[in-house]
Amino acid sequence: MFAKKTYVERRETLKKSLGKGLVILLGNSDAAINYAGNQYAFRQDSSFIYYLGLDAPDLAYVLDIDHNKEYLFGDELTIDDIIWMGNLPSLKERAEKVGISDVKPLSELASVVGAAVKSGQAVHYLKPYRFKNQLLISELLGKNPGQVQKDFSLELTKAIIKMRLIKSDEELAQLANAGQTGYAMHIVAMKMCHPGVSERDIAGVIEGLAISAGQGVSFPTILSMNGQTLHNHDHSETLKEGRLMLCDAGSENLEHYASDFTRTTAVGAKYNARQESVHNIVLRAVNESIAMAKPGIAYKNVHRNAYRIIFEGLREMGLTKGDTEAALEAGAPALFMPHGLGHAMGLDVHDMENLGETLVGYDDETQRDTMFGYASLRFGKRLEPGHVLTVEPGIYFVPQLIDKWKAEKICADFINFDRLQDFYDFGGIRLEDDIVITESGCRLVYEKRLPITIEEIWDAVNG
Ligand code: GLY
Repeated sequence: MFAKKTYVERRETLKKSLGKGLVILLGNSDAAINYAGNQYAFRQDSSFIYYLGLDAPDLAYVLDIDHNKEYLFGDELTIDDIIWMGNLPSLKERAEKVGISDVKPLSELASVVGAAVKSGQAVHYLKPYRFKNQLLISELLGKNPGQVQKDFSLELTKAIIKMRLIKSDEELAQLANAGQTGYAMHIVAMKMCHPGVSERDIAGVIEGLAISAGQGVSFPTILSMNGQTLHNHDHSETLKEGRLMLCDAGSENLEHYASDFTRTTAVGAKYNARQESVHNIVLRAVNESIAMAKPGIAYKNVHRNAYRIIFEGLREMGLTKGDTEAALEAGAPALFMPHGLGHAMGLDVHDMENLGETLVGYDDETQRDTMFGYASLRFGKRLEPGHVLTVEPGIYFVPQLIDKWKAEKICADFINFDRLQDFYDFGGIRLEDDIVITESGCRLVYEKRLPITIEEIWDAVNG
């Protein structure tokens, strides 16, 4: 948790930015796995963490801007809670640590919100992503649950996005801390990347490291020889010489900040010529994207430039053909990289995706594209100092997608479909680092970059 001042100042900034109305910010509750008493690990809502820092279930915060008041709603622990789950300082004491003096039982939330509605105050709330909070808002405001999802406050959402997108130095230190664990996870994955080792063993060991160091993984681990499946959570195979292992994994640290790295390692670090060529194209794309990212440049343009590098690199290998600009216009590189170059990262691995991916990553000036591939870019707008983003180009050979494009003659002027037959068993290569935009350019969020060249990966695997 940060110092009290941090939370007080954040709420003050939010108050000034909205100017009037009543804000309801709901924390999360425990969620059942297979029966009520067997629960998933509790995860607090990230905006609640950002403004309140309180990491416990069943809390709600109300900021009454019109009357310059704020309340925390929640219940003190019962003797049963203490017997089964342990003791904690009182809620009042915990609230004081984040600068809140007015604590009320949860049962009083309805009357405070009801009075505000009755007096005509504008009520701001975020679009709920958990049914329990959707139903709670529904009850508090007397709206049906469907309407609750439509009537969320765009003003509040935009105000929060604006604040959370710019990371402070104390947040950057937390992100670097999450990065340290992510680093350790990937080094271990590389060391284990030898023939005969099961994917599940490696995934289990690296997820264990994330649990030992913090809250666990920041998203379900992607670790597979079938890296052409972008979010492959299946770990059922055993590593074989001649194949690639794509590992996209990260940790969430104790303060809930994320890391997200990808490395693709040839089993035993023995790259064949095709794998080496594709690796080096992706390496060029990640390095040039990092070199290009700086304040004022739209990330959409960095994505397009990565597509350029991929298209031209594959043209040298004989897999694509034709004019680069025309191919970029037609969206040809999306056959090989159907995802975006990166996303914002912070308290969520896809930062604030619950508030709306397009609201986070685009604005009036930079609109989201609709074309396949470009449309998947989660963050396209101009970069500003303090933005934290992933840079994660990749090249994949998805047989079903190649067959579809070939059959439908999509981008046929730019793709050598016949040459692609030899790549159906290739898998995919993705390389991903996390950057923060500075005043003059960008830097990696963490001190030490994971091995990324073929020589560095060889040393990590066999050293
Ligand atoms: N690293 C997983 C993702 O960005 O979705």
